[in-house]
Amino acid sequence: MEKADTVLDVTQLEVRFRIEEGDLPAVNGVDFSLRRGSTLALVGESGCGKSVTSLAIMRLINPPGRIAGGSIRIQPSGRDTIDITALSEKDDLLYSVRCGMIGMIFQEPMTALSPVHTIGNQICEAILLHCNVNEKTAQERAIAMLDNVGISNAAQRMRQYPHELSGGLRQRVVIAMALAAEPEILIADEPTTALDVTIQAQILQLLKELQQKTGVSILFITHDLGVVAQVADDVAVMYMGRIAEYGPVRNVLKNPRHPYTRALLQSLPALHRRGERLASIPGRVPSLANVPEGCSFHPRCQYAEQKLCDIPPAPQLQQAAEEHSTACLRWQDVFAEKTQ
Ligand SMILES: Nc1ncnc2c1ncn2[C@@H]1O[C@H](COP(=O)(O)OP(=O)(O)OP(=O)(O)O)[C@@H](O)[C@H]1O
Ligand SMILES: [Mg+2]
Repeated sequence: MEKADTVLDVTQLEVRFRIEEGDLPAVNGVDFSLRRGSTLALVGESGCGKSVTSLAIMRLINPPGRIAGGSIRIQPSGRDTIDITALSEKDDLLYSVRCGMIGMIFQEPMTALSPVHTIGNQICEAILLHCNVNEKTAQERAIAMLDNVGISNAAQRMRQYPHELSGGLRQRVVIAMALAAEPEILIADEPTTALDVTIQAQILQLLKELQQKTGVSILFITHDLGVVAQVADDVAVMYMGRIAEYGPVRNVLKNPRHPYTRALLQSLPALHRRGERLASIPGRVPSLANVPEGCSFHPRCQYAEQKLCDIPPAPQLQQAAEEHSTACLRWQDVFAEKTQ
C-alpha cells in the first residue's frame, strides 16, 4: 500500500474477455486508490470498464473473462493488507472480503432483490449470514437498518415484497443490505441511474450521511459528471479500459487536463447555455477488438487530428498538478484552452 490512509489500492489492473473477436482488454492497466473515509468516483461512457473493474475487486469475473494482470489490495483497519488478486477461490479470506469487508450495490437494484421474499426476510438473511446473532436480534437490526436508510414504518415495511415499494425505497433497501455487514468499503455501481432526479438527490444525500456516520469508504460508479460533482472527493475518468485523468474532483472538473474530460464537461447540459445545441464528442468509441496503438482517445482527439502529438506508445498517467494526473501528452494545451 502506498499510503497509510489508503483502504483500497488498484495497481495496473488488467481484465480480459476471450471471445470470438479476440482477447478484449476491457480493463487495460488501471491504477487508482481509495482514501479511507472518502468517496472516489469512477466515471466514463458506457462500456469503458467501470462495472468490470468493480466486479474484479469482488473477484466476480468469470470465464470468458479473467484478471490478466495487476493487483487489488485492501487494507482493513487493524489487519494486514490483503491482496485480493492473490487469494484462492476457496480461501475463507475471499469469503470475508466479499461478504464482510466490501459491500456492493450492483448496477441493477431489482436483480439484487428476490421478488418472492419479503424485504424483512432478505435483510435478516443478510444479517444472519454476516453477523453471529440469533433471529430475534437480526430482526431488530433489520428494522434499525431500514430506519437508518430513511424508511419510515420500518416494522411494517419488513412484511412487504420488493414490487410493493417505489424505486427509491427499493434502492434504500439495497443500500441497507449492502451495509448489513458494516463493510469498510462500499462499491456503488450506478446506484441512482434508474431513479428520477429528486429521488436521486435523496439517495446521494443518504449515502453521504451514512458515510459521515460510519466512516465507510465509497467507490462510486457513474457515467454522470454532475453526480460526481455532488458526491465525490476524488475522480478517475475512464476511457476504453484506461484511466484518462485522475485527481481531486474540484481540480479535475474545474481545470481538466485531458481532452476527453473536457469534452465530457462540454457535453453536460447547463442552464446558462440554454437554447444552444449540446456539444457532442466527435467520432465513435473504437471497438475493444481493435484498440488503437498508443493513446486510446486518439481517433476522437483534435490534437491527434492536427498531428500535434507523437503516438504510440500509450501515454501513461503523468502528474500535471498536485495530486492530479492525466494520460495526455498535450495536457498543457488542454489546460490553456478554457472549458466553456
Ligand atoms: N461477460 C462479458 N463477456 C464479454 N465482454 C464483456 C463481458 N462483460 C463485459 N464485457 C465488455 O467489457 C467492456 C466493459 O464493460 P463494463 O460493463 O465494465 O462497462 P461499463 O463502463 O460498466 O458500462 P455501463 O455504463 O454501460 O454500465 C465492454 O466492452 C463489455 O462489452
Ligand atoms: Mg456498468
